[in-house]
Amino acid sequence: MTRFLITSLVCASLFLCSSGFSYSLSKVSTLYVPAYDATDNAVYGFNQGTVEQIAYDPQNKIVYAVGANIFHVIDVSNPNSMQIVYHKVYANTDLTDIEFCGDHVFFAVDNDTNVESRLQGTVYVLKKYQKNNAAESLREIHRIKVGAIPDMIKPTKDCRTVLVAIEAEAFGSGSAFQDPQGGVGVIKFPNGVEQPNTYTNLDFTAFNNRLTELEDQGVRFVYRENNNTFDRDVEPEYITYNTDESIAYIGLQENNAIAEVNLITETITAIHGLGAKSWSNYKLDPSDKDGGIHLSSYDIKSFYLPDAIHFHTWMDSSIIITANEGDAKDYADLIDWDEERRGAKAAKKLSDVIPAIVKTDLKDDKKLGRLTFSKVDGLNSDGEYDTLYTYGGRGISIRSVGAGLPILYDSGGIVEEQIAQNFPDFFNSKGESEKTPKENMDSRSDSMGPRCEALETAVIGGRLIIFVGNGSPGSISIFSVGDKFSDTRYESTYFGIPQSNVTFGSMYDQRTISEIDPEDIRYVSGTDSPTNGEAIFVAGSKSGTLSILKVNIEDDRSAAGKPGSAYLLMSSLLGVICIITYIY
Ligand SMILES: *[C@@H]1O[C@H](CO)[C@@H](O)[C@H](O)[C@H]1NC(C)=O
Ligand SMILES: *[C@@H]1O[C@H](CO)[C@@H](O)[C@H](O)[C@H]1NC(C)=O
Ligand SMILES: *[C@@H]1O[C@H](CO)[C@@H](O)[C@H](O)[C@H]1NC(C)=O
Repeated sequence: MTRFLITSLVCASLFLCSSGFSYSLSKVSTLYVPAYDATDNAVYGFNQGTVEQIAYDPQNKIVYAVGANIFHVIDVSNPNSMQIVYHKVYANTDLTDIEFCGDHVFFAVDNDTNVESRLQGTVYVLKKYQKNNAAESLREIHRIKVGAIPDMIKPTKDCRTVLVAIEAEAFGSGSAFQDPQGGVGVIKFPNGVEQPNTYTNLDFTAFNNRLTELEDQGVRFVYRENNNTFDRDVEPEYITYNTDESIAYIGLQENNAIAEVNLITETITAIHGLGAKSWSNYKLDPSDKDGGIHLSSYDIKSFYLPDAIHFHTWMDSSIIITANEGDAKDYADLIDWDEERRGAKAAKKLSDVIPAIVKTDLKDDKKLGRLTFSKVDGLNSDGEYDTLYTYGGRGISIRSVGAGLPILYDSGGIVEEQIAQNFPDFFNSKGESEKTPKENMDSRSDSMGPRCEALETAVIGGRLIIFVGNGSPGSISIFSVGDKFSDTRYESTYFGIPQSNVTFGSMYDQRTISEIDPEDIRYVSGTDSPTNGEAIFVAGSKSGTLSILKVNIEDDRSAAGKPGSAYLLMSSLLGVICIITYIY
C-alpha cells in the first residue's frame, strides 16, 4: 500500500514536471494613435477606432496601421518609444485591412462617397515607407477596383496573388436598401507587383440551389426576405491559406460557415457549415441583469460564427483554428429588420420538445430571458422553436481539415470561467467610456460574452501557441497545444486595464488603458522583434492603441525562462525512481 502511494506520488510529480513551460504576456509599451481634425491637428479620444488592423515590416521595424479613415506609419525600432512617422486621412472611407509584402503595402478601402463607390471597393498598393528616399517612399503603384465593401486582404508569400474578402454587407435605407453579392476577389500580379494586374471576382451563385444540403450542415441563410438570394446573404470576411497556398479558406461569419477556394482553378469548391455547440455540459453567463457573475449550464445551442480563422499544420494534421465571436445580422437602422429575439419573447413560441426547465429559465431575466436567439433558425413549420440557437461559441475551436471539419478541441466555457475567477471586475464588459469596469461588468453577458474575435498562432517552446483577442472589453487569452490535441490547455489571460474604479474614458485620458477591443494581433519572433524577444503587436481598436507585449515563457518550477540543469536533473531522477518503484 505504502509502495503504491510512493509510486503514485513520484510519477505524478514527474508528470507535473514534464508539463514544461507556461505562457503569459506582459506590457512593453503602448502608443496612443490619434484621429485628425479638418486642419490636420491630432485629436485624441476613446473609441475613435484609429487602429483596427496592422502589418509589420521586420527589416525596417515599421508597423503600418489602418483604422477608421486613417493610414499610419509607425517606427517601432525603439520599442519603448514608438513614433508616428506618417499619416494620411482618406476622406469618406473606411480603411478595413492592411498587409505588408515584399516591398509593398496593400490596404483595402470601403469608399462611402456614394452608392457606386460602395459597390466597387478599392485595394491600394503603395511602395513601402523609406526614411531616406522621399521619391519612392509610399509612392502609389495601383488603385485596384474590387467588389463591394472589401473587409480583408491576404497576399501569398510571393506577393503575386492577393485575395480580397468581398464582405458586401447590406447598406442603404428604405427603398434604397440593397444586399450586394458577397465574393472572393483574386488580384494577380503575374510579372511582379509593380507590373499590370488582373482581377477576378468569384461569387456564390452556384450555391443558390443547394440550400437544403447547406442548411443540413449548419450553414445559415439569414436574410431571406425581399427575394434575397444566398449569394447576396454571404458575407466573406476572413482569409487563411493552406501550407502550399493552393487552397484558401474563407470565413463567412454570419453564415456560420467556411468556404473553400481552389486557387489553381480559381473556383469556390465547397462551403462547410460549422454546426452548433451545445451548452448542456459547458457553462456560460447568459444574463446582464442577474447582478453579477452566474455561470451555469443550459440545454440550448449556439452557432460558432467565427471572426478570425487560422489554418495550421500541427503534428502531421491540417487544422483550422476559429475564434468563435458570434454576430447577428441587424438591419434595424436600414429597413427595420433584425434577427435577434430575447429569450423572454422566444418563450412565447416554444414547441413541446423544449425541456420544461428551459421554458422556465426563458421567462426569467436572471437566467435565459435576456439572452438573444435567432428568429430565423430552429423554428418548426408552425413557427415554434424546436431548438434555441444563440450567437457565438464564447471561445475557440480547433477543427480538422477534412469532411465536415470535425472538432478536435473546443474551449467550452473556459474563457468566461477564467476571467470570472481571475478578473471579475472586467467580466463580459461593453467597455463604455463613462463607466468604470466595476459598473460595466456583466453588461455583455446577454450578447456573446467575452467575444473571442482575433487570433494569432506561433510555435514557441515546442507547443503551438494560440493568442485570442477578446473584444468585450479587451483582453488576450493564450492557449497551447502539445503533441496531442487532447493536450490543449488554457494558459493565461492578459488585460491592459489598470484600475476597476476609474472610468474607461478617464483611464484613456490618463493614457493608462490599452488593448481595448483587440481586433488584430501579430506575432513577431525574437529575430524579427524590436525587443529582441518573442512579442506580439496588438491593435486596440477602442483604445486607439498599438501595443507591444512580451511573450513570457516560464519554466513552471524555476520561473527562469529556460529549463535549468537542476530541473533537468530532478526530472530525470524522478523518472528513474518512478520506473524503479513501478517495477518493484
Ligand atoms: C472615393 O470615391 C470618390 C467618388 O468616386 C472618388 O472621387 C474618391 O477619390 C474616392 N476616394 C478614395 C480614397 O479612393
Ligand atoms: C419576389 O418575387 C416574386 C416573383 O418574381 C414577386 O412576385 C414578388 O413581388 C417579389 N417580392 C418582393 C418582396 O419583392
Ligand atoms: C480606486 O481604488 C484605489 C485602491 O483601492 C484607491 O486608492 C483609489 O482612491 C480609488 N479611486 C477612486 C477614483 O475611487
